[in-house]
Amino acid sequence: MQITLNGRPVAADPEGHATLLDLLRDELALTGTKRVCDRGSCGACTVLLDGVSVYSCLTLAQGCDGHDVRTIEGLGSAAEPHPLQQAFALEDAAQCGFCTPGQLMAAAALLAANDDPSDDEIVAAMSGNLCRCGTYPKILRAVRRAAAMLRETGA
Ligand code: FES
Ligand code: FES
Repeated sequence: MQITLNGRPVAADPEGHATLLDLLRDELALTGTKRVCDRGSCGACTVLLDGVSVYSCLTLAQGCDGHDVRTIEGLGSAAEPHPLQQAFALEDAAQCGFCTPGQLMAAAALLAANDDPSDDEIVAAMSGNLCRCGTYPKILRAVRRAAAMLRETGA
C-alpha cells in the first residue's frame, strides 16, 4: 500500500489486522502519536485522515491505502511550531503531555474547518480527547488563541 504521510509518499506492507496506529508507531517509528487505551476511548492516537480527525487505533492500516495521513510530526517543527503548538505552550496547556499530540490534531481538524469556533464548538470538537491531568480550561484557551493567531496570519 501507499499513503501520503505528512506530505510525502510512503510505501508500507502492514498485516491485515494492523491498525494505522500500529503502522505509524511500530513500522514507521512515528511515536508522536500515542497509544493509551487502544480501543477508541481516549483520543491520544488522533491523526488526520484526509483532513478528518480519526482514532488511529480504530482505523485499519490497509484501509488507508491511497489516502493522506497527517500526524503530529507533520503539524509543525521545533524550529517552526504550528500556531496551535505555540498557543498550547503559551497557555501552559500540557502537563504530562501524553494527550497533547491527539489534542493538537483534533484541534487542527477543527480550525481547518472553522477558523472562528465558539467555546461550545471547541468543546464539542475536542470532546473525544480525554486529558487525565484535567487541563481542559487551558486547552480551551489555547485553541481559542491559536484560532486568533491563524486568523491574524491568514494561514
Ligand atoms: S489509543 Fe486510540 S482512542 Fe485511545
Ligand atoms: S496533559 Fe496529561 S493527560 Fe493531558
